[in-house]
Amino acid sequence: MKGQQWYQEDDIAQEYEEKRFSKGGRLIDRREKQAVLDAVGPVEEKDVLEIACGTGRFTVMLAERGADVVGLDISGPMLQQGRTKAQRAGVDDHLEFMRSDAARLPFPDDSFDTVMAMRFFHLADQPASFLSEMRRVSREQVFFDTFNRFTTRSIYNWALPMGSRLYSRWEISRLLDSAGLELARDDHDFAFPYGLYRQIPNELASTLREIDTTLIRSPLGKRLASVSYWDARVDAQ
Ligand SMILES: C[S@@+](CC[C@H](N)C(=O)[O-])C[C@H]1O[C@@H](n2cnc3c(N)ncnc32)[C@H](O)[C@@H]1O
Repeated sequence: MKGQQWYQEDDIAQEYEEKRFSKGGRLIDRREKQAVLDAVGPVEEKDVLEIACGTGRFTVMLAERGADVVGLDISGPMLQQGRTKAQRAGVDDHLEFMRSDAARLPFPDDSFDTVMAMRFFHLADQPASFLSEMRRVSREQVFFDTFNRFTTRSIYNWALPMGSRLYSRWEISRLLDSAGLELARDDHDFAFPYGLYRQIPNELASTLREIDTTLIRSPLGKRLASVSYWDARVDAQ
């Protein structure tokens, strides 16, 4: 997987949120959390697995709302950030952080109501087997996001240290099919790439976001969106 080594460094983990979700990036953090809550909520007493949970942005948010959450990640330093965040939020006894590889999930079949992964699909070298693993351990729902081909993300990708795997809608639909998942809802956003938001102050980012939202709501919106959120259900067979 791309990024497997990158996130093992203490300083990378410490700076992860500050670099991405300060300034205009706050807006992205809010939007992503909303996407998760729209798909997963209400979460009270749901068993949720978050794969590649990183610093626990969503893990802690879901535990605060009453879910029983397992956050899994391969990076010890990223998980350490998550543990600190959970302690501060007073939810550390409602969730478990686990160091493990997303490629081989250490759980029996049908272990969770919801299995989710944010900002991870672009790092997966074998998306088909990763999605099958997600489906295997889920009783009901699989939720993830992707970065899209033929959008501003393609340009932005050049500037990234490890690049990302980009997807078309057709590819995701084929991957869901072969994993035995049925698409329940898809949502598409961000005509402008994330990188642009995090370079600018919050006030300017709000203006950019208004233009972005107008573009996304236009008839061309789906084609322009650089990010997609996929909410799928386990096929009842
Ligand atoms: C871009 S971060 C996303 C973190 C979090 N989901 C978020 O949205 O803030 C990618 C995460 O994937 C984790 N990762 C990379 N390869 C992995 C693997 N093979 N198994 C589990 N986690 C992995 C990294 O350690 C890192 O925390």
